[in-house]
Amino acid sequence: MCGIYGFIGGGKVEELINGLKKLEYRGYDSAGIAFAKNGELFVEKHTGKVDQLREHLNSDLSKRINSGIAHTRWASHGIPNDLNAHPQMDCQHKIAVVHNGIIENYEQLKETLKAEGHVFVSQTDTEVVAHLVEKYFNGDLLDAVRKAILDLDGTYAIGVLHADVKDEIIFARRKSPLVVTADGKRSYCASDVTPLISSSRDVVFLEDGQLARLVAGEYEIFESSGKSVAKTIQHIEWDEKAAEKGGYKHFMIKEIHEEPRVISDAITGRISEKKVVLKELKGWDNYLKNVNKINVIACGTSYHAGLIFKYFFESLRPFNVEVEVSSEYRYRNVLIDEHTLTIAISQSGETADTLESVGLVKSRGGKVLAISNVVGSTLTRESEKTVYINAGPEISVASTKAYIGQLTVLYLLALYIDELFGGNHPDIVESLQKLPEIADNFIISSVEAIKEVASKYVGYENFMYIGRGINYPSALEGALKLKEISYTNAVGYQAGELKHGPIALLDEKFPVMAVAVNDQLYNKMMSNILETKARNAHVVAVLTEGDLNLKESINDAIFLPKLPSYLYPFLVGTAFQLFAYHVADARDLNIDMPRNLAKSVTIE
Ligand code: M6R
Repeated sequence: MCGIYGFIGGGKVEELINGLKKLEYRGYDSAGIAFAKNGELFVEKHTGKVDQLREHLNSDLSKRINSGIAHTRWASHGIPNDLNAHPQMDCQHKIAVVHNGIIENYEQLKETLKAEGHVFVSQTDTEVVAHLVEKYFNGDLLDAVRKAILDLDGTYAIGVLHADVKDEIIFARRKSPLVVTADGKRSYCASDVTPLISSSRDVVFLEDGQLARLVAGEYEIFESSGKSVAKTIQHIEWDEKAAEKGGYKHFMIKEIHEEPRVISDAITGRISEKKVVLKELKGWDNYLKNVNKINVIACGTSYHAGLIFKYFFESLRPFNVEVEVSSEYRYRNVLIDEHTLTIAISQSGETADTLESVGLVKSRGGKVLAISNVVGSTLTRESEKTVYINAGPEISVASTKAYIGQLTVLYLLALYIDELFGGNHPDIVESLQKLPEIADNFIISSVEAIKEVASKYVGYENFMYIGRGINYPSALEGALKLKEISYTNAVGYQAGELKHGPIALLDEKFPVMAVAVNDQLYNKMMSNILETKARNAHVVAVLTEGDLNLKESINDAIFLPKLPSYLYPFLVGTAFQLFAYHVADARDLNIDMPRNLAKSVTIE
């Protein structure tokens, strides 16, 4: 996730670097700073780490400056390179802009600005903001930024510095956090509190649509109408380590709480008039219309996301979708023709087995579409097309928010392909748009209840996760999460398979996690739960709220809100992540860095 830091009121260039260092934990691929002196703007930005930026700045580090803005970038629009790094500038090189988020309508804005004579040098969406501020600037920077943001659709936290405006810097937010503070001499703004708390613990979290004007030692908050608003100051108690995690104990739980935002970011700019628009697939419509087979290749959690894609796509229309783990697929003698689409899913884009499978597909003349979170990763370079999940970097080794982001993008992809075949599902599109809010409410209302359930199961050594249909992959993923972070044996099965063997494992020491939401397989799941109960297993059932049918037959329940059945995998996924997290946390394990595991599996 990108990071923003800025201050005004005097200091050294090096302090911008120090601010960025405290944002490094968020993950990034490039970094840059901007400051002004005597009406001239200085910008230094590079791919790579903040320490490399520090080396580039060298003797400038000790320079005295009045104000500056700084940024760590996690690429979303445009590959990681020096030109695409932030700050971005206007035509005159007077205005510097740093930005977190996604400007949905940047292409239209860019076309309009180009027609008005503005010259663009980067592939970023951010650059339009610099040119918009240039367009509206008439001596009043706050007013120019205010007008610029009125033109923007999408999400943003932005910081703006103008070489001719010595005494202020401006920040604005919509759906991407910004925090402001002042210590009497200087004032500061950042994308989270981490770089601020060494200066002051009394901060203001900007709200959506608000702008902040920072001057030396003071700041004012404004609505987008320009009206000044009162500050709501909050006192931060966290130390810096806790602040990196937003006050959460581990990155994993922080990242689970980010899932509603991840769904919303994955959807941003990809829905128009109740239809899915995937600009990334431009030029592929004719090919996709003639596809009669989809092969999905992936590993681990990404493989489970692929399985859910299969069930969802088949619910839209009968279709030949095969999902295979990459480490098997790469050795198969697969038949690929011009009517085959291969989807390679990889959060990191660097998983060796998936890359080898992609090589196999390409050697047989097949086309590969990547679903990844890392712009410019090997997978995206090896594939013809990529749809990014835009989840921001995932720091905890166990994949949580990236999985939810993958599901979101895969649902969009399924709807997009189905639309090309003549399908039309405005109801599904609408329900996806509502999902961030539903997911947010679910997490807020259930986290304590799931912790309570988990606390009863901390002592067990074996778990069986079961589900049917689209919730069968959720059982696999739930079991994987528990294994990874709590080192507990957990197996996932199609509930219908129990009687063919696995049921022999069950007794009072082998709890069952069963997904029995209100879908067309609910009655079958009820029977399976009764079968497990008859073997004395303790059952934790994931149910739809209000369902009391199984009250006497289960030990514990996790309730989900009533949803269209295809949406349950999102919340079941989150519920199982929370369960695994709380079991591991109660055992005091190294949750973010489980033993024997790596975030990016680059070996075969
Ligand atoms: O980066 P990828 O999505 O290709 O990674 C695939 C798996 O290695 C990954 O999902 C792994 O299973 C995670 N540790 C899951 O939490």
